[in-house]
Amino acid sequence: MFHSATSFAFQLLLVAAFPSLALAASEGTDFLWWENIQLTQNVLTNWSYTMDVTPYSFRSNFRPPSTLPKCKTYPGDSDWPSDSQWAAFDNVLTLKLIKTVPEASICYPNGSVVNSPQCQRLTDSWNNSTLRIEDPTSIRSVLFQGMTCMPPPHTGYFLSPSITSPSCTIGGFPEYVVKVGSVTQVQLAVNFAREKNLRLVIKNTGHDFGAKSVGKGSVSIWTHFLKDMVFIEKWKGGKGGYEGPAVRFGAGVQVWEANEFSKKYGVTLVGGEGKTVGHIGGYIQGGGHSPLTSLWGMAADHVLSINIVTASGHFITANSTHNTDIFWAVRGGGGSTFGVVTSMVLRAFPKIKVTTMRYNMTTSSNFSRDQFWEAQKAWVADFKKYADLGYYSYTRIRHVNGELFHDATSWIAPNTSITDFKASVAPMFAKWKTIGVPVTPIIREFDNYPDAFTDAFPQEAWTWAMRQASRFFPQANLATPEKQEQTLDAIRSVVDEGSNTIIFNMRNPPGSASIDNAVNPAWRSLLLFAIMFVTWNTTAPTPYVTELSRNLTYEWNPRWRALTPGSGTYMSESDYIEPNWQQSFHGDKYARLLKIKKTWDPEGVFYAQNAVGSEEWEMSEKILGHLPSQNSKLCRI
Ligand SMILES: Cc1cc2nc3c(=O)[nH]c(=O)nc-3n(C[C@H](O)[C@H](O)[C@H](O)COP(=O)(O)OP(=O)(O)OC[C@H]3O[C@@H](n4cnc5c(N)ncnc54)[C@H](O)[C@@H]3O)c2cc1C
Ligand SMILES: *[C@@H]1O[C@H](CO)[C@@H](O)[C@H](O)[C@H]1NC(C)=O
Ligand SMILES: *[C@@H]1O[C@H](CO)[C@@H](O)[C@H](O)[C@H]1NC(C)=O
Ligand SMILES: *[C@@H]1O[C@H](CO)[C@@H](O)[C@H](O)[C@H]1NC(C)=O
Ligand SMILES: *[C@@H]1O[C@H](CO)[C@@H](O)[C@H](O)[C@H]1NC(C)=O
Ligand SMILES: *[C@@H]1O[C@H](CO)[C@@H](O)[C@H](O)[C@H]1NC(C)=O
Ligand SMILES: *[C@@H]1O[C@H](CO)[C@@H](O)[C@H](O)[C@H]1NC(C)=O
Ligand SMILES: *[C@@H]1O[C@H](CO)[C@@H](O)[C@H](O)[C@H]1NC(C)=O
Ligand SMILES: *[C@@H]1O[C@H](CO)[C@@H](O)[C@H](O)[C@H]1NC(C)=O
Ligand SMILES: *[C@@H]1O[C@H](CO)[C@@H](O)[C@H](O)[C@H]1NC(C)=O
Ligand SMILES: *[C@@H]1O[C@H](CO)[C@@H](O)[C@H](O)[C@H]1NC(C)=O
Repeated sequence: MFHSATSFAFQLLLVAAFPSLALAASEGTDFLWWENIQLTQNVLTNWSYTMDVTPYSFRSNFRPPSTLPKCKTYPGDSDWPSDSQWAAFDNVLTLKLIKTVPEASICYPNGSVVNSPQCQRLTDSWNNSTLRIEDPTSIRSVLFQGMTCMPPPHTGYFLSPSITSPSCTIGGFPEYVVKVGSVTQVQLAVNFAREKNLRLVIKNTGHDFGAKSVGKGSVSIWTHFLKDMVFIEKWKGGKGGYEGPAVRFGAGVQVWEANEFSKKYGVTLVGGEGKTVGHIGGYIQGGGHSPLTSLWGMAADHVLSINIVTASGHFITANSTHNTDIFWAVRGGGGSTFGVVTSMVLRAFPKIKVTTMRYNMTTSSNFSRDQFWEAQKAWVADFKKYADLGYYSYTRIRHVNGELFHDATSWIAPNTSITDFKASVAPMFAKWKTIGVPVTPIIREFDNYPDAFTDAFPQEAWTWAMRQASRFFPQANLATPEKQEQTLDAIRSVVDEGSNTIIFNMRNPPGSASIDNAVNPAWRSLLLFAIMFVTWNTTAPTPYVTELSRNLTYEWNPRWRALTPGSGTYMSESDYIEPNWQQSFHGDKYARLLKIKKTWDPEGVFYAQNAVGSEEWEMSEKILGHLPSQNSKLCRI
């Protein structure tokens, strides 16, 4: 944080010029209290008597991109803001500006490695998302950031043969972070970044697999502390709209917090399985699948209202009657694209009982790979039955100590008693018994979803040396025993060659396809969502990791794509360099999304890897020769 001699006096001045800064407005259903603290033209006019407000002003007319600089402005460029301009920015933010110090820099106190106890603790707990989320700039997918400041043992030696010792630079992390606590601060950050031609990023939790919450030389808006949750007993949706219980959540609310809150009010929310993922950020804006998706659809299907700061700096409400194009686009079109969401209203569902199941199996001298795949076949054969019952399952197949290890992190059977559940899976277990599958399932019933969620999904590790790719397999790909065999063979082929996989069984419930939002249409016919992922150690040779990474995109995922023409995949759990991503992530909705992007953000204030409109931009360097590096310059093509 900046501390300057003038700051205290300046804050007083701000409060005097802008009385609402000093007010704590009451919680209504339209705004969370800090959403009443807004930057308006009146405020700017008042400020203009005492200071230059040009860098913080709204934009009423967007400039044609052709008149704007080719690249964003970077440290060292002549038009990079001076220290005094950054200090002035911090002052109008009332001291919410943080100069980035990469989290692992504590291991490099004077430029070289010092193995202190704090560094050791950081090294040991680097995989703990709870801790990384509390840092202003730490992210999970550091690979695409360039791994420029890691705890020393986690150094990315594999990135280049020229890396011979641990080191720490800011790399692809933002230069500055705005720790926002009001709409005014979000607006100031958007206006400052736009008027100064700076790259702007948004970090909520930093979970994104595509490192979409960092960027070299950027200003970051950190939404993590926007945690307010309000229960709305009776939301009135207007003519023909939803009426009933709802919640308004600030942008920083995480999945586990949302579930605890819903339990308190005796309702159920459609949220993800990952505990520490943000509920309102990349998750819901990318569509958001849930253990409750087979029953109730995607999280984005239940958004009733969105408060958002747009690229011009204006704060608007988007709902079924106002700013309907943004309302449509943000429900599935992706984060970091149309604006900074400050809060959302979400439909709440009734409390339900839930049965969960977990199990695992591993190949051994007693259980061959062929038996293993026979077991998978028997399971996949019943995917339609399970999804139609409203079930969801999240399972993995991994290479562990030379064996194949399959575990169901969990099955979720919403609104289903343990008796009914056991009856429904009995035929599969009978087949498994015939095959000789060594498995001991754990099955439990809970009288509410939040408790089932807590039991079923332990906190996942914050893993970083990995790459992934994915594909939707529609119902048609599992419609006959031959199709099921084809699908499993395609999955087996990549496992045989060294990949690991995650397999989800779910559907979107009947009627979902007619919901008019930006959720990828390919979600609506899906029955199996498969992710392939590869991992490596930090000292693996560069050519090996390069080939592994290239195999994912150019050898293995094409096999899945070939079986599923016209289908797609989920932007939030996809290949960082997904070929033809516009079609894969958005299908026939892409043209409309791009039009909305160009209406609301023609200057490209918001950018993220493979986000709508990003084809007009390019990172100047690549990691391992093929992965756009967030530790390089962002320029228009
Ligand atoms: C362990 C784990 C479990 C997961 N489980 C699920 C799951 O069950 N279902 C599912 O659908 N997905 C799941 N995901 C994927 C998840 O949805 C994405 O990683 C998502 O991008 C995370 O969003 P975030 O806001 O938490 O993360 P961040 O990395 O902070 O943000 C992700 C993207 O959203 C943007 N963004 C964040 N906040 C805002 C905002 N307020 N306004 C505008 N843009 C914003 C960021 O700029 C970035 O582009 C999981 C991921 C992990 C790592
Ligand atoms: C602008 O300043 C005037 C006088 O100082 C004050 O009365 C008014 O409320 C201020 N307006 C805003 C929006 O802060
Ligand atoms: C700084 O680095 C040197 C080695 O380059 C080391 O000897 C010294 O102890 C370090 N100082 C601190 C405070 O860690
Ligand atoms: C992760 O860190 C949090 C906060 O310190 C701690 O409570 C939790 O136990 C840690 N998780 C693991 C698996 O170590
Ligand atoms: C949408 O938001 C506007 C502005 O807040 C409000 O006037 C309108 O009633 C809302 N429409 C619905 C259907 O809630
Ligand atoms: C294989 O089965 C035998 C006999 O049932 C048992 O003793 C042995 O432990 C099993 N081995 C493995 C690896 O499961
Ligand atoms: C739950 O199941 C019961 C029948 O057992 C059914 O009447 C009810 O509609 C179901 N609830 C939901 C939300 O699907
Ligand atoms: C595998 O399942 C068994 C039986 O339910 C359980 O005891 C064991 O902990 C599980 N192993 C793993 C690694 O999940
Ligand atoms: C991180 O790794 C350690 C050791 O490998 C493990 O004990 C711990 O549970 C992991 N933490 C998380 C959150 O997975
Ligand atoms: C790291 O991975 C490479 C390539 O797979 C392998 O050759 C090497 O033995 C591994 N090193 C360790 C320490 O596991
Ligand atoms: C890449 O895939 C080819 C087959 O397409 C395989 O021969 C090779 O071993 C793979 N390389 C790695 C590193 O996985």
